[in-house]
Amino acid sequence: MGLWKSPAREFRQDVTLDGVLHGKVVIVTGGGAGIGEATALFFSEQGAKVAVLDRNGDSARRTAERCQGLALQADMRDRTSLAAAVERTLSHYGRIDVLVNNAGIYPRQAFVDITEEQWDEMHDVNLKGTFRMCQLVAPHMIRQRAGKIINISSVTFFLGVRLLSHYVAAKGGVIGLTRVLAKELGEFNIHVNCITPGAIQTESEKFFVTEEQARAFVESQSLKRRLQPLDIARVCAFLASSWSDGMTGQTVNVDGGWVLY
Ligand SMILES: NC(=O)c1ccc[n+]([C@@H]2O[C@H](COP(=O)([O-])OP(=O)(O)OC[C@H]3O[C@@H](n4cnc5c(N)ncnc54)[C@H](O)[C@@H]3O)[C@@H](O)[C@H]2O)c1
Repeated sequence: MGLWKSPAREFRQDVTLDGVLHGKVVIVTGGGAGIGEATALFFSEQGAKVAVLDRNGDSARRTAERCQGLALQADMRDRTSLAAAVERTLSHYGRIDVLVNNAGIYPRQAFVDITEEQWDEMHDVNLKGTFRMCQLVAPHMIRQRAGKIINISSVTFFLGVRLLSHYVAAKGGVIGLTRVLAKELGEFNIHVNCITPGAIQTESEKFFVTEEQARAFVESQSLKRRLQPLDIARVCAFLASSWSDGMTGQTVNVDGGWVLY
């Protein structure tokens, strides 16, 4: 049997991994630590120009230095600071191709003890912050007739997890927002997808996950290892690249095979 020739050969050249993100301008929120930091660094390794947004200016600068990117100090709760960060990215790089809405908080609290203020803060950062960034960036992507938005939700939406009612409700909202934006922005060639990470071994996790709990996570997963921030960064890169051009409105679960659906 002869070799499988064209179009397979052309196809193979088309999908070479190197360079799929080359020159793309990416904003990563919460890029100062954990999943956001890994995502910013991975995108930069793939040749992207990265703007690292974080409420912690020092963390943003540290990550930005490592990826020769732009540091943006802004708070997901403050529309004015986010608008300034978006404008700064545009004046520095001239465009925005990809937005990764990753910044988030996850303090635990028993449902009966959650105060109005705690509920509101959780939603202000995790859900409304995502709304704000999407709304600030979308007009530029509409003008470009191209864009990729990747929202970070959580596997806890599928699991339902004790002490996280405010978090799970907000992360469920992120999935809903993703679906509607996919419908509204699709005609402008803007792709909006969502990732639900499982238990990811970040620095901040150490403060509330015991070794016993960490072992239980692995036990629950199909894959018997702790997931790393890079596992999420790689899927972000896929969703930001032309490799996922046929996908929008989707929720991609990256949890080591914990929740199967
Ligand atoms: N780590 C996990 O196991 C896990 C699992 C599922 C989902 N997630 C989600 O992934 C995202 C990142 O999680 P992580 O574990 O890397 O967190 P992290 O705490 O390690 O890093 C979060 C970063 O976001 C920044 N940030 C927090 N609030 C902000 C605000 N108001 N404005 C701007 N920046 C802010 C922090 O300064 C920090 O640099 C979050 O949305 C989280 O809910 C994490």
